[in-house]
Amino acid sequence: MKGVILAGGLGSRLRPLTNVTNKHLLPIYDRPMIFYPLQTLVEAGIRDILIVTGGSNAGDFLRLIGNGAAFGLKHVNYTYQKGEGGIAEALGLAEHFADGEKLVVILGDNIVQRSVASFVEAFKRQPLGAKILIKKVPDPERFGVVVFDKGRVLKIEEKPKKPKSGFIVTGIYMYDAQVFEIIKTLKPSNRGEMEITDVNNAYIRRKQMTCGFLQGWWSDCGTFDSLLGASQLVAKDSRGG
Ligand code: G1P
Repeated sequence: MKGVILAGGLGSRLRPLTNVTNKHLLPIYDRPMIFYPLQTLVEAGIRDILIVTGGSNAGDFLRLIGNGAAFGLKHVNYTYQKGEGGIAEALGLAEHFADGEKLVVILGDNIVQRSVASFVEAFKRQPLGAKILIKKVPDPERFGVVVFDKGRVLKIEEKPKKPKSGFIVTGIYMYDAQVFEIIKTLKPSNRGEMEITDVNNAYIRRKQMTCGFLQGWWSDCGTFDSLLGASQLVAKDSRGG
């Protein structure tokens, strides 16, 4: 299985921190943000990794990560997203890289405490479709919210005003090669982006979606509070709790 890290976007909710750099290069405790999702993929046994970035700081990723020697990698792939078309558009750029293989996709601002290796192994055995990792949070309205029907995932609602559950879709997704056909059918959402939630709903409609419950803490880093909170969680763990 191959891995994709999505690290484009404007990081507009973090201005002025993101005025002259990419969100994923900002510090989370003692390391640049992008190191964490990269480590998550490597720890899950993924060796063939593509970083999708954009904006005017793309070259900084190459200078920072290079061929991934610090992570035990021999080579890292990079591609460039022009403009601000959203997560699903960024993932569409990975079609050539995927070359028909299954993918683990992680958003560059998603930080997890525990390994996701068991979920990746389970998805390798899943004959087709997709897998999402979900988590209960106190502020679901900030995320893609899972709507359940008798214990099954009925659909996902992106940033609803009135969330129908406390469970949200984290930014760790696993897809088979159908994902690229699905992306080509998408229309931009109200915020003018191709939404990953629309991709996931397409798999749910095909009855090809499974989900796993992520253990340990999880954080995104898209707002000042979550950026600070993620640093505090990492710092606490690195001091031994
Ligand atoms: C994105 C997805 C959302 C998901 C979140 C996880 O939100 O659209 O469904 O729950 O990542 O980090 P965004 O970061 O674009 O607001």
